Amino acid sequence: MENGITIKTPEEIEKMREIGKLAGELLTFIEPYVKPGVTTLELDNLMADYIENTQHVVSACLGYEGYPKYTCISVNEVVCHGIPSAAHKIRNGDIVNIDVTLIKDGYHGDTSKMFLVGDVPIRNVKLCKCAQHSMYEAIKQMAPGRNLTLVGDVIQKIADKEGFSIVREYCGHGIGTGFHEPPQVLHYKNHNNLLLSEGMVFTIEPMINAGTWKTKVNKSNGWTVTTSDKQPSAQYEHTIVITKDGCEILTHRPDDEIEKVIHVL
Ligand code: MF3
Ligand code: CO
Ligand code: CO
Repeated sequence: MENGITIKTPEEIEKMREIGKLAGELLTFIEPYVKPGVTTLELDNLMADYIENTQHVVSACLGYEGYPKYTCISVNEVVCHGIPSAAHKIRNGDIVNIDVTLIKDGYHGDTSKMFLVGDVPIRNVKLCKCAQHSMYEAIKQMAPGRNLTLVGDVIQKIADKEGFSIVREYCGHGIGTGFHEPPQVLHYKNHNNLLLSEGMVFTIEPMINAGTWKTKVNKSNGWTVTTSDKQPSAQYEHTIVITKDGCEILTHRPDDEIEKVIHVL
């Protein structure tokens, strides 16, 4: 323990590497199905079947604080925690975040990406790229002895340059046997100083908005978070571990535009 943050042993990191890889593979599996006309419930059902019958692992989302589905699917102005629904058909031009968290041997892997469906307006393509590349640039700074506040520094600079805003009410988190462990990982400029050490595992998951950073939670289901101004939002998420000289992306996929193992020092 360091400041209430668990330091994972090499054996624990190996388990997190396994479940992280499976979480990444789940996003790769669902890619060809994210097309106009499919409902978000159909996507959730496909992933539920793959998780249980192909991967033989467990969804951390199902039943988490009463959450009703296997995955979160957040379309356009939905920031996060979109509940898959038979009433919600994906349409041409949508930007769709799918966020998956899996558990194996007690350890969690948490990752998400955007799916751009058909002809997406250029501004929304830029929004998705901003979420993805700001996450990458933050990851590239993570190493022992560095300060966790670098995450907010880097992402704020990139979002500001594009004229986008950063969600403040939701953040990244430590992860391990717990889904959400300390520390909180803020994606905007902040003074939550924490020196990183080898063996710390946490997520970086910036939510970038086209308009205001302010969000609202749906009152009837208690989950779905939307932007206050109904403008679109994009998010990418990876789970990383701090290594001897940098970090490793535990949820890395072949389509990532960054290496899995990053030497920073
Ligand atoms: N996967 C989300 C995160 O990145 C949390 C989803 S909680 C759920 O932290 F209950 F909505 F699934
Ligand atoms: Co997360
Ligand atoms: Co997540």
